[in-house]
Amino acid sequence: MAAREIKSGIFYVGSNHWDRRLFDELIPLPDGTTYNSYVIKGSEKNALIDSVDPEKQNELIANLKDLGVGKLHYIIANHAEQDHSGGIPEVMETFPEAKVITNQKCKTMLMELLLLPEEKFITVNDKDKISLGDRTLEFIIAPWVHWPETMLTYLQEEKILFPCDLFGAHLASSELYPTDLPRVYESAKRYYAEIMMPFRNVIQKHLKKLEEYSIEIIAPSHGPVHKDTDLIIDAYRDWTSDKVKNEVILPYVSMHGSTKKMVEHLIDALIKKRITVKPFNLTKTDIGELAVALVDAATIVIATPTVLAGPHPAAAYAAYLTNALRPKARYASVIGSFGWGGKMLEQITGMLGNLKVELLEPVIVKGYPTTSDFGSLDKLASAIFERHKSIGIT
Ligand code: FEO
Repeated sequence: MAAREIKSGIFYVGSNHWDRRLFDELIPLPDGTTYNSYVIKGSEKNALIDSVDPEKQNELIANLKDLGVGKLHYIIANHAEQDHSGGIPEVMETFPEAKVITNQKCKTMLMELLLLPEEKFITVNDKDKISLGDRTLEFIIAPWVHWPETMLTYLQEEKILFPCDLFGAHLASSELYPTDLPRVYESAKRYYAEIMMPFRNVIQKHLKKLEEYSIEIIAPSHGPVHKDTDLIIDAYRDWTSDKVKNEVILPYVSMHGSTKKMVEHLIDALIKKRITVKPFNLTKTDIGELAVALVDAATIVIATPTVLAGPHPAAAYAAYLTNALRPKARYASVIGSFGWGGKMLEQITGMLGNLKVELLEPVIVKGYPTTSDFGSLDKLASAIFERHKSIGIT
């Protein structure tokens, strides 16, 4: 994708990956993604902020050449993950004088992941600054924006924050600045849910730290550049807060209809109590959509039949992911069915150990649900309602 000017002498030089459909061989990318890289031309020195995925490194090099960047003094590595660092060796081939600026932890990881030589690095600490002549870069150490070595870079004079993955979105677009803000919001929320939700408490602290800075533009490493910085910062404050919504997330799978009948009954019972229900048929759902729903919900109910004495593998996968993503839900339960026995309930609840939830009385049915079983589901809906009421969200 062609280079574009953000401000005088500051250019986007990254790449769209329109047709990428999976990240980390795990995360669905319905809208593709971008690898954003930026070049800052100072009066004395030039700096590149992050590189791109190796698959797109030729586009980055072409953009730098098109802009007439004859000398590159610094490559700022905010993050060691290869979708941003993977192009660094090629950039260093093209600009052999360039030094990589990063923190000590990131340096170690880049040496291990990319086999870069130690003499090519300049290491920085929190709040260290580097001058490009008429422009100054300040480095903000912000570990665990999903990896331990992450940092942010702040361009002081123009008040631009380059936060790498933080505030990003997997959204390929020809627009540098978005016009469809609701779409960007949803995409950024999905990105947060899939990548950063497990680090919610750490990110809260990073948001607090950023209050010290006047920020006019946020230029992340994926998706659009934000001029409306309040939109994305306020969204992150909301997502990372302890507030939950009057919602039940209901990932389910059913083989012969028993569990499905229970799910349908529970959905109706919750709707009658004016609780928002978000069911996800695990044989069809995009796990990214499930992750997004987990950002706000107060309660998670997993519904599964019993297969070979345990939960259905699709339900086990959903439970595993939910546990790994550590959503802020307060309550959880399990509903489902079995034919002759098994340890489905113990196994699925055993997979949710990371969640700080109260486990509400499960409803496990032998065979097809009876009137009495539907009564138990009504009781579960009432228990959820009472809990939500007790925390003031009904
Ligand atoms: Fe976009 Fe953590 O890399």
